[in-house]
Amino acid sequence: ESLSKGPYAHFMLKEIYEQSESVMNSMRGRLNFQTKSVMLGGLSEENVYTINSSRRILFISCGTSLNACLAVRPTFDELLNLPIAMENASDFLDRQPHVFRDDVCVFVSQSGETADTLRALEYCQKKGATLVGFTNTVGSSISRLTHFGSHLNCGVEVGVASTKAFTSQIVVMMLAVLRLSDDSRRLAPRRHEIMDALSRLSADVAECLRMVAPKVKALAQRLLDAKSVLVLGRGYQFASCLEAALKIKELTYVHTEGINSGELKHGPLALIDENIPVIIFCTKDAHIDRARSAIQQVRARKGKPIAIISERDEEVEAAADDIIQVPQTVDCLQALINIIPMQMLAYELAVLRGNNVDCPRNLAKSVTTQ
Ligand code: AGP
Repeated sequence: ESLSKGPYAHFMLKEIYEQSESVMNSMRGRLNFQTKSVMLGGLSEENVYTINSSRRILFISCGTSLNACLAVRPTFDELLNLPIAMENASDFLDRQPHVFRDDVCVFVSQSGETADTLRALEYCQKKGATLVGFTNTVGSSISRLTHFGSHLNCGVEVGVASTKAFTSQIVVMMLAVLRLSDDSRRLAPRRHEIMDALSRLSADVAECLRMVAPKVKALAQRLLDAKSVLVLGRGYQFASCLEAALKIKELTYVHTEGINSGELKHGPLALIDENIPVIIFCTKDAHIDRARSAIQQVRARKGKPIAIISERDEEVEAAADDIIQVPQTVDCLQALINIIPMQMLAYELAVLRGNNVDCPRNLAKSVTTQ
């Protein structure tokens, strides 16, 4: 695998554009679109049984990898009969919570070497839990120390800001939950709907890259002097808010906050005025009415909303100052599409501000100290 930037100015841009291919590589040999079946090397019959008969699943991770876990949580909740918990690895270590022998602890890490995630793994190992790993790095500490798991197969990610690893983490964890739920006849229609969307995913990502590029460039010019940016969403898009905010803050050094729009009235509304850019995910899913209500709440406080939509929507378009349209996919994969304009926006803003795109200040690709 060559580590050249090819025709791209930065590794991050190359990695953003690689995503139509990398999501496919994460599915190759694992998802059979004809027979509608999933085979993941790490998820043998025995391992599937271990997970499905466990007390609960705990996802333990940091940064973008944790956001990928949050993005798939609603689907784990929906397709499995198990309690699903999310843990930020450093907070988990500070709290030292109960972990049981019949818990399944899932460690998600691009590098497989993140110190907090590794220490949390050792903690769960001592408690006798089953350890599962999703990493991108064959032979990494996390892939060696877990009992089983799967690799992302998205290729080496060089940019410190994680892009293609995030989208491949979503894909591989989606495959995992499809495999874990494959004995349910009741869930077959929903599982098939997700598999159909996965079969179109690479094309949707390519289409998204094509659709959003010019719009995002123009938006970056407009946001160049922003002192602070808010990103709102809820439900499937809560993870998108956190990940979009993480991308923008680490690349641009501008304060950016991802907020669950269900929380707006509990404090964040006070931040809204005519100066603060507010990005709102208004893509079509069961929560679209609440997304419309959030955009109205922002508008009513003289805010200038920028809406991400997946279908034409008169109410949203009338309330928004700016619209970015992305392709529509199944609700539980929409976060993967929605993050693409946000990755691009963070990239374009960083270039305009003269920042070091591939290696933002104060950050390292692999955080091996606590
Ligand atoms: C995000 O762009 C960062 N690179 C960072 O949040 C990263 O996801 C985090 O440090 C965890 O890294 P890992 O996936 O290698 O464990």
